[in-house]
Amino acid sequence: MKIPFLRRDHAILDLEADDCHAIARLHEEDFGRPWSAEEFESLLTQDTVFGFAVREVGNPRLGLVGFVLARLAAGEGEILTIAVARTRRRLGLGRTLMDAVLRRLHSDRAEELFLEVDETNAAAIALYKRLGFNEVARRPGYYEHEGRKRSDAIVMRRELRRAKPA
Ligand SMILES: CC(C)(COP(=O)(O)OP(=O)(O)OC[C@H]1O[C@@H](n2cnc3c(N)ncnc32)[C@H](O)[C@@H]1OP(=O)(O)O)[C@@H](O)C(=O)NCCC(=O)NCCS
Repeated sequence: MKIPFLRRDHAILDLEADDCHAIARLHEEDFGRPWSAEEFESLLTQDTVFGFAVREVGNPRLGLVGFVLARLAAGEGEILTIAVARTRRRLGLGRTLMDAVLRRLHSDRAEELFLEVDETNAAAIALYKRLGFNEVARRPGYYEHEGRKRSDAIVMRRELRRAKPA
C-alpha cells in the first residue's frame, strides 16, 4: 500500500518557562547528561536567555517537536542547546530554529554567535557549517561517553554584522 506524503505545517513560538518539562523530555532523547526541567525553567527566567519552540500546526497533542535555547550578553550570542524530535528530523526544523535565533540577534544588534558541538555530532556540524559557522577552538576530551572514548568540543563562531539571515 502506498502511504501518501502529508505536508506538515509548523509554528515557531517563543519558548516560555511553562515549556520546561516538554523541552527537558526532548533534550533527554539525545544528550548524555540531560538537563532537568528545573534547570530549563531557571534558564528561561533569566533576562539574557531566550529561545524558540516548534509545534506542528493542527496536532496539539504532539506537543513540541523541537526547540532552541540561546543567550545574549554584551553583544555576544551563544546557542545553549538545540534539539529536534527524532521523528521530525531532516524537515528543515533545526535550520528554522537557528534562523529564528539569528533574526532575533540581528534585531538586537549582536555582533557574533558562538556554540559548542561534539566533534562526533556530524548532523549538527553540517547544520552549523551550512549556516556559516566556522571552527575557532577545540576543547580536547570535553565530552564523556559511555563505552567509547572521550571526544573534543568544537567551538564554532558566526559573525552577525555582515551576513543577514535569509
Ligand atoms: C542537529 C539537529 C538539531 C538538526 O535538526 P534537523 O531539523 O534534522 O536539521 P534540518 O532538517 O534543519 O537540516 C538542515 C541542514 O543541516 C544538515 N544536516 C542536518 N542533519 C544532518 C545529518 N543527519 N547528516 C548530514 N547533514 C545534516 C543538512 O545540510 C541539512 O540540510 P538538507 O536536509 O537540505 O541536506 C538534530 O539532528 C538534532 O536534534 N540532533 C540531536 C541534538 C543535537 O545534537 N543538538 C546539537 C547539539 S550542539
